Amino acid sequence: MSATSVAKALTPPDIVARKGQAPLVCLTAYTTPVARIADRHCDVVLVGDSVGMVLHGLDSTLGVTLDMMVMHGKAVRRGIEHALMVVDMPFGSYEESPAQAFRSAARLMAETGCAAVKLEGGEAVADTIRFLTARGIPVMAHVGLTPQAVNVFGGYKVQGLGNSAARILADAQAVAAAGAFSVVIEKVAEPLAREITAKLAVPTIGIGASAACDGQILVVDDMLGMFTQFQPKFVKRYAELGVAADAAMAAYAKEVRERSFPGMEHVYAGAAKAPSA
Ligand code: KIV
Repeated sequence: MSATSVAKALTPPDIVARKGQAPLVCLTAYTTPVARIADRHCDVVLVGDSVGMVLHGLDSTLGVTLDMMVMHGKAVRRGIEHALMVVDMPFGSYEESPAQAFRSAARLMAETGCAAVKLEGGEAVADTIRFLTARGIPVMAHVGLTPQAVNVFGGYKVQGLGNSAARILADAQAVAAAGAFSVVIEKVAEPLAREITAKLAVPTIGIGASAACDGQILVVDDMLGMFTQFQPKFVKRYAELGVAADAAMAAYAKEVRERSFPGMEHVYAGAAKAPSA
């Protein structure tokens, strides 16, 4: 971008217009510096509730609060100029009623400056999506493996195998009919993702749902290789930052212990004060 051009962030209608066009590039971000980098490369930056597991060490996303999403949303907003910024609605902030969802979503939008929210679920949340979109809140939906329902699924399993495929298709159609401007499809087999993508008029964004989707999203720390523990099959590591960080900290610890850091190049040299008589 030239110094004189005016930055203009993508909007939900811009995302809808990408249906069947060049794939949408999406990543999560939770902090300003990472958002700045993601913004250079992505169409959508999602402040996912995965922040609870990725940055706060939680076992699931269930303990993530609206306050946490607001705090990380504000941080990400400072790094965004070009991408559409979406903030996840955390567990417990929207399921009770459309009115509860509106209050939570309005707070997220007003306090973070995001342009849209994301919530999980299919037919069960269609009325809520209709309520929000009719009141000026663009909604990204999320079907298939919805991590906030991990206890219902009994783990983070592949969804839509066998008979449940029809339910996931119906979920995707229900949220799109209710006004969602895009639909994340998580961890479903390729034929189902392809069928949903063909049947929806709005873009599908896959995570573990094959290249048949209209776009892709990954958790940024996963694709950067920040973790050395287990990662799902659908994550491709584009870097090994966890290994690099481990090596850097090991080198630092060694140099501190042997007093080779700080070296003279890191030291402020100054004339020693003459002792007063
Ligand atoms: O919370 C999250 O990061 C998400 C994406 C992985 C889709 O919901």
